[in-house]
Amino acid sequence: MKKKLVVLTGAGMSAESGISTFRDSGGLWDKYPVEDVATPEGFERNPELVLEFYNTRRRELLNAKPNEGHKGIAELEKYFDVQVITQNIDNLHEQAGSTKVLHLHGELMKARSTGDESLIYELPADKPEIKLGDKCEKGYQLRPHIVWFGEAVPMISEAAKMVEKADIFVIIGTSMNVYPAAGLLDDVRKNVPVYLIDPKEVRTGRHDVHHIKKGASEGVKELKRLLL
Ligand code: APR
Repeated sequence: MKKKLVVLTGAGMSAESGISTFRDSGGLWDKYPVEDVATPEGFERNPELVLEFYNTRRRELLNAKPNEGHKGIAELEKYFDVQVITQNIDNLHEQAGSTKVLHLHGELMKARSTGDESLIYELPADKPEIKLGDKCEKGYQLRPHIVWFGEAVPMISEAAKMVEKADIFVIIGTSMNVYPAAGLLDDVRKNVPVYLIDPKEVRTGRHDVHHIKKGASEGVKELKRLLL
């Protein structure tokens, strides 16, 4: 039986693919007030601004490719039972070939009904926008299928169950600022080795974390050397 390797990823995982992070200087939350573009109240105040923000993110994603880090994680499936838990809304893990990816904060290429949250639609790559007036089959406005600040994170309990089963836990490219995602580290069992790949210091509250102080592409190469 393969060992269970659980990888928690954040915006830094996709930085080398050209996708902006949030909290680095020049990151998205420097340029756009988070309360305007990533909260239900912001969407109520100015839905067009919010839709356009995510339309731009989608165009950015359609020009991006998985980097060596994403590919390296996918290749680890040869040796481990790999479960990716990502805070990212891009689909670069899937594009790289990872087969088990849980999206904690939603998915950029999906739209959801504002009146019936069970109605979720894949957006076509040749028409990736959501506009004001675009409706679900029941006639409600569509919104991005994203978990905004102040909203519940429906996938968190499933993610916690996965983390509890981990034999090895890896954190890549997240500042560990946003809960409940950051709290998943508390669900890792005792004596399970924890690796962190990030070019900067990240406060994890633990002393036994093996920090690979590199970007995602180089960091995943080193992780492979350490694990195999
Ligand atoms: N490789 C690896 N890590 C990197 C790289 C890189 N090339 N470049 C930057 N990083 C690291 C930064 O040092 C930082 O620790 O990625 C992390 C990015 O942190 P944030 O911008 O805070 O992103 P993240 O932790 O994913 O944010 C969590 O916040 O705004 C919400 O919903 C949004 O999912 C997001 C959540």
